[in-house]
Amino acid sequence: MKSHVETLRWEGASRGEPGFVRMIEQTLLPGQHVELSVRSVEEMVDAIYRLAIRGAPAIGIAAAYGVLLGMQTAQVEDGDDFLGRTGEVCATLAKARPTAVNLFWALERMQERARRDHARGATPDALLEGLFEEAFAIQREDAKQCQRMGELGAKFLRDGMVVLTHCNAGALATGGMGTALAPIYVAHGEGKKIAVYADETRPLLQGARLTAWELTQAGVEVTLITDNMTASVMQQGKIDAVFVGSDRIARNGDVCNKIGTYGVAVLARQHGIPFYVVAPLSTFDPQLASGAEIPIEERPGKEVTFGFGKRTAPEGVRVYNPAFDVTPAELVTAIVTEVGVIEGPTMERVEEALRRGGRI
Ligand code: MRU
Repeated sequence: MKSHVETLRWEGASRGEPGFVRMIEQTLLPGQHVELSVRSVEEMVDAIYRLAIRGAPAIGIAAAYGVLLGMQTAQVEDGDDFLGRTGEVCATLAKARPTAVNLFWALERMQERARRDHARGATPDALLEGLFEEAFAIQREDAKQCQRMGELGAKFLRDGMVVLTHCNAGALATGGMGTALAPIYVAHGEGKKIAVYADETRPLLQGARLTAWELTQAGVEVTLITDNMTASVMQQGKIDAVFVGSDRIARNGDVCNKIGTYGVAVLARQHGIPFYVVAPLSTFDPQLASGAEIPIEERPGKEVTFGFGKRTAPEGVRVYNPAFDVTPAELVTAIVTEVGVIEGPTMERVEEALRRGGRI
């Protein structure tokens, strides 16, 4: 099934003008469905930081296109100069957000491509050509991986099931149909009736603004609840399974995702509900032995005190606003990746999947 939403795309150069990126301005959803043009590295950093584009795989694709924005008009003397400049552009893009490892994975992949081509003696023009190929491949592969994860994850969904999800891990967050929402789209496409409860996802409301919007567009039944209703909804026996995405998964299977995910996982365990994580291998960080090492982004307090377009807390109040949390592997029933399902994730099983996917 093809998703209705195209989150971002590269618009090729025309009439001597350089290419640029078109993306849905996600901060305006669901009120306005408009596209934003991003034409420079600085604009891309800003778009990622502001969450105009967000969700781990989409951030990775955006970063790869950011490299093209930086390099397509770069005046370079030779291949060495091209490599140096690419490194600088990547260093700037790497500062956009700290947690989703797809950002760093994509930047490393772009640089590795340039290094490889340079080692073969490619000219600056050929090096640029290589970067274009690599960025398009990253988006194309992501779409395929979403499809594959959707097929594998759909096996856990039977007709009539009700799924709870947190944040937005759908088409808006990827280059394809999504991660956590992909099994739901696939099952829906197979004619199974799957209903979804979407957590609102405080403070930036990705569940309310994005997941509820995206599922509605796709014709999937969705019920919105505030985050503090999850426990009660589970206690009432309304939820059969939880599906979430991830921003970074450590080698031991600890899963970092949007703040609030850990609470949902604890509640799922308490109520005997399976907790599935759906994420491509590009979201795994083979360098980190456990989730304790994952850098957690802290965002401005204003997102909490001014979240609904008006002041909801006294001026000057101290705010703690971590954007992500870590769910220990023991609370995860299975991680669905494009190379297979990791049931009851342990370091051994995660490493086996990473080896199969050529990540280690
Ligand atoms: O702050 P966001 O909106 O970028 O956070 C996104 C999430 O936490 C998603 O669940 C995660 O990136 C997986 S997206 C397929």
